[in-house]
Formats: sequence, structure tokens, C-alpha cells
Amino acid sequence: MADADDYFGEPVAATYDESLADMFEPSAVNSAVDVLAELAGGGRALELGIGTGRLALPLARRGIPVHGIDLSPAMVARLHVKPGSEAIGVTVGDFATTRVDGRFSVAYLVFNAIMNVTTQAAQVACFRNAAAHLEPGGCFVVEVMVPELRKLPAGQNIVPFQVGPPRWGFDVYDDLTTQTMSSHYIKIVDGRSEHRSIPFRYVWPAELDLMAQLAGLRLRDRWDGWTREPFTSESRRHVSAWEKPAG
Ligand SMILES: C[S@@+](CC[C@H](N)C(=O)[O-])C[C@H]1O[C@@H](n2cnc3c(N)ncnc32)[C@H](O)[C@@H]1O
Repeated sequence: MADADDYFGEPVAATYDESLADMFEPSAVNSAVDVLAELAGGGRALELGIGTGRLALPLARRGIPVHGIDLSPAMVARLHVKPGSEAIGVTVGDFATTRVDGRFSVAYLVFNAIMNVTTQAAQVACFRNAAAHLEPGGCFVVEVMVPELRKLPAGQNIVPFQVGPPRWGFDVYDDLTTQTMSSHYIKIVDGRSEHRSIPFRYVWPAELDLMAQLAGLRLRDRWDGWTREPFTSESRRHVSAWEKPAG
């Protein structure tokens, strides 16, 4: 799989919070933290791909002990300078394979980060790793987009998602057999265009359910979003929670 640190290195980490300001708004954060705090109950939370702490910090402020795993030292360094980060333990490593001590009531992987894992085998490994950290009755929560193949006109493989100026963005569905895709971001800085791209593997809700089953988990809830609207065939993303059976 591609090394995520190549894509979340210092240049991305330096502007991550600012360029995704909408995602740091209370309207985007609070409902996610509500769901995760409820699932944590009195227990601990494990964030796979903790990044700069967008959800981990407000979750910890609610009194939930939070630990994070992330491959990018640059993203983690941004987390570590924020107030409240001293309460959060972080392990630098691949969340498909890295183990941390103890058991958790909830493990979560949000903001499409399951798609940063670019093979099916490694995505399955993420489920197995999350499940291994859960106590019986604990949940693994994933927030991810529904692949947008229905938007593809016949014979084309590109879906634009932002049309500037000053920014343009489009997804390329590179290979329908392996479900590899890439997102491309172009922005104008001081009159010059800059291009950045990141590889992904898109994954269907039903395929995630099979991955969960392989990891010994079963679907508990699937919503359209963090405010728990019903998931339908028109949903553009989902928040899914799979439970580790008790006993
Ligand atoms: C889209 S960001 C999300 C960060 C944070 N969860 C948030 O909601 O803002 C994805 C994060 O996952 C990390 N990441 C991607 N693939 C990873 C992997 N295989 N193992 C560990 N971390 C990974 C990246 O370094 C990055 O910090």
C-alpha cells in the first residue's frame, strides 16, 4: 500500500486545519463527538488516523480517554501543540497493523480514511486490527463516502467535486477491477498552479459489512451521517457501527 506519510507530510499538515475549516466547525464536529461519546460510554476510545485531533480533542474534553494511531509524524506534531493534547496518547504507525495496549469501547476511522488504505487486503486488516482492540460489546465506527460511480457518464472516469477559481478538484476512478481511485487538487498560489493528488481505494457499504464479518463484527447501525438520519440508496456517505459480540 502507499505510505500515507507521503500524502500527509509537513506541507499538508501545515495547512490541514485551515484548508478544512468547515470540518472543524462545531456543526461538523459536535454530532460526531456525540455519537462516539455515547458508544464509548464509560470506556476508552481509539482513533485510527487521529490526524491533528479534530475529533479526538473534543472527545477527550468530554472526559473520554482517547488514544490515537497515525502514520504521519507531521500530523501528530500539529496535534501535540494543541491545548488538551497532553491527555491523548498517540502511537505513530500503520493503523492496519499497529497494536496498542488495553481494550477500547469504541474504535473509529472517519473522514474517508479507510480509503487511504489502497488494497482490499489492507482494508480487511484494518477491520481485524480494530476488532482486536475492542472489548466485547465494543463498536468499530467508520465514516466514508458512497462511491460515486453513478455520476460517471458512459466512457468516462472523472467526477469533478470543486470547480474554482481558485481551487479545482476531481476524482479519477482509475481501475474498476481493483477499486483504486485518486483525488486531484489544483490551486492557484501567487499566479501559479499547484497540483496534489492522493490515491484511494473506494469501498462499498456491503463490502465493508463482509470485512466486518471476517473480523468477527456484526452491523449494529448504519446512518446517512452523524445526526443518525436513515441510510438510503440516495445517501452519499454513511456512518456505520459494527459491534463485537459480547461473550
Ligand atoms: C483525512 S485525515 C483524517 C484525520 C482526522 N481523523 C480528522 O478527522 O481530521 C487521515 C489521517 O489518517 C492518517 N493515515 C492514513 N492512512 C494511514 C494508515 N495506514 N495508518 C495510520 N494512519 C494513516 C493520515 O496520516 C491522516 O492523519
